[in-house]
Amino acid sequence: MGSNSYSLLRRLLFSFDPETSHLLALRALRTMQRTPGGLSATARRFAFRDPRLGQTLLDMHFPNPLGLAAGFDKDACIIHAMAALGFGSVEVGTVTPKPQSGNPRPRLFRLSSEDSLQNAMGFNNEGLDAALARLKRDAPFPVPIGLNVGKNKDTPQEAALEEYLGLIDALDVVGDYGVVNISSPNTPGLRDFQNEEFVGELFSTATATCRKPLFLKIAPDSDIESLVTLATVAVEAGASGIIATNTSIDYALSTQAKDFGGISGSLIREKSFRVLEALAEALHGKTILISVGGIDSGAEAYRRLQAGASLLQAYTGLIYRGPGFAATVNRDLIHSMDQNGIDHISQIAGSTGR
Ligand SMILES: Cc1cc2nc3c(=O)[nH]c(=O)nc-3n(C[C@H](O)[C@H](O)[C@H](O)COP(=O)(O)O)c2cc1C
Repeated sequence: MGSNSYSLLRRLLFSFDPETSHLLALRALRTMQRTPGGLSATARRFAFRDPRLGQTLLDMHFPNPLGLAAGFDKDACIIHAMAALGFGSVEVGTVTPKPQSGNPRPRLFRLSSEDSLQNAMGFNNEGLDAALARLKRDAPFPVPIGLNVGKNKDTPQEAALEEYLGLIDALDVVGDYGVVNISSPNTPGLRDFQNEEFVGELFSTATATCRKPLFLKIAPDSDIESLVTLATVAVEAGASGIIATNTSIDYALSTQAKDFGGISGSLIREKSFRVLEALAEALHGKTILISVGGIDSGAEAYRRLQAGASLLQAYTGLIYRGPGFAATVNRDLIHSMDQNGIDHISQIAGSTGR
């Protein structure tokens, strides 16, 4: 779908409240996924493939670097559809042990003039068992699958460590990598776990038994030095990488912003980039960095890879750019590589001299 045809669909989708639009999009993607021939027709129309974008990292093959960020497919319903749209990986969740309904609606808002969103969803999801059942039913997948996990809202803080360890055990059965989410702003007290003691204990305990790669997803709002320290502790305790960043609670980023929830999209682009740069300074070559936050073009994708990311993710860009989003980013990324005389994606980070 070119940008013109999406502009019509977008006008229609944007005429509903954002969460209703999201549910309509999920339903359409699910229907397409179930329709015989739907996935191959979608892939023919939308996906962009080029072996120069493929990488094998941690024993997982990523056909391209752009993954779907957590939160879009919380319940693992549309993985095949998102792969057919050209995403090179899909992170499902955040999944909590028990189902929970999340915060009261409205809890998702468009900051349309700024290509951004603000959400206070609060881990609405059908729970771990439902996600596991779908992941088992729909496997195998053509792209790596991340299982992003978080605590239930009503779990006491002192029980959180055990709860995360229990969630991570699910990776024995499904998923290619796990993500510890302690960076959502919408579960009270969650970001308090972004401390060295909790992160060190969680990753050292979990990686002693978990055979799949585990990542820590961090918020962009603490000072950069403490984020780097936290990430370093996670890596030293066995984390395979860092996903940076989650949404931001810096409401000064926009005059339209509400004073709750997390901001995503263009408004957090520079913040997220600065976190990546600092992480790369300390950890490039020692771990896998996945950059997320405001990536909406091939040029931005190239800049993140150049700054030291091995992989990328996006959510908000998809909402504003539509179903052709992943293909456009990947095609433009190839264009940037051609302009810079780069033959393979793995050479981009090297080109900054890091
Ligand atoms: C509506 C919405 C729901 C989200 N839910 C989750 C979630 O459940 N878990 C998580 O780790 N991140 C969640 N995120 C954060 C995204 O995964 C991503 O880190 C963030 O939006 C920045 O990327 P972007 O600017 O490309 O959207 C959510 C984002 C949005 C917009």
